[in-house]
Amino acid sequence: MSAMNPGHVRIEGTLAIVGGGRMGEAIAAGLAASGVFEPASIVIAEPIAERREALTFAHGVRCVETAPEAAAEGDIVLLAVKPQVMDAVLAEVHDSVAERLVVSIAAGISSARIESGLPAGTAVVRVMPNTPALVREGMSVISGGSEATAEQVDLVREIFSVLGHAIVLDEHHQDAATAISGSGPAYVALIIDALARSGVMHGLPRHIAEELAVQTVAGTAALVERTGQHPEQIIDGVASPGGTTIAAIEALEAAGVRAAFNAAVTAAVDRAKELGS
Ligand SMILES: NC(=O)c1ccc[n+]([C@@H]2O[C@H](COP(=O)([O-])OP(=O)(O)OC[C@H]3O[C@@H](n4cnc5c(N)ncnc54)[C@H](OP(=O)(O)O)[C@@H]3O)[C@@H](O)[C@H]2O)c1
Repeated sequence: MSAMNPGHVRIEGTLAIVGGGRMGEAIAAGLAASGVFEPASIVIAEPIAERREALTFAHGVRCVETAPEAAAEGDIVLLAVKPQVMDAVLAEVHDSVAERLVVSIAAGISSARIESGLPAGTAVVRVMPNTPALVREGMSVISGGSEATAEQVDLVREIFSVLGHAIVLDEHHQDAATAISGSGPAYVALIIDALARSGVMHGLPRHIAEELAVQTVAGTAALVERTGQHPEQIIDGVASPGGTTIAAIEALEAAGVRAAFNAAVTAAVDRAKELGS
């Protein structure tokens, strides 16, 4: 099904995406723009007509109204619907996915549960991507179900690596991955917004405050990644004795920032478990 081209994998088959929402669009856009799939080889099932038109206009992909129509065409069927509607969607596509590789990005839904809603023997790969995939800076965590071969898991990893980083992990880590990288863009955006607002409080124009916050988050992420330093070393590198940064860090610690992040991640893990049960 696949052959290499310069830079990344190129897939000759059809990718069916069920659900043309935020993640479905982000994945379709990245794969079409990078040439992993020809835009015409991506078909999206999306119930809302205006949304179908917008997706075709923006990315050159084909759109159909119902999940079975798309699934019947796909060599790979990617389920990008909310966990709450997954059971209904599995029932819809059940008779169209024989011999297909089914990929689910639904938070909290195990590959075993997807398999149980599909014909026996269907290969399922579970992925937790995140929204920076839209700008190909995503983080995707990939786990094979009981019927997926190592080659199928690796094919999915290659596809998602076009949208940023992609790693394969045992499925029992998926709820933690969901809570860190799946939901994480919301936490980081909250930090950016909080920093920018604080800048406004102290007289900076909003757009300047936001630029300072955004580039500081991006630059710090690059610094951690490229130097391999422990985050504590980065903190120590900024916090000079008796200086401004140590005063700020003490205020953050006093406000319980670490405990707040721990509580947030634990809440997300608990919710992922609830959604999956
Ligand atoms: N957003 C994230 O950051 C993120 C990150 C990682 C994983 N995920 C996972 O990605 C999945 C999709 O999330 P999302 O944020 O993209 O949700 P979303 O924006 O609500 O997109 C879901 C799309 O699926 C459509 N849909 C619903 N039922 C359908 C059906 N029977 N057939 C075809 N399409 C149908 C919805 O249409 P209607 O609007 O008409 O219902 C909607 O356009 C979720 O399972 C989520 O857990 C999301």
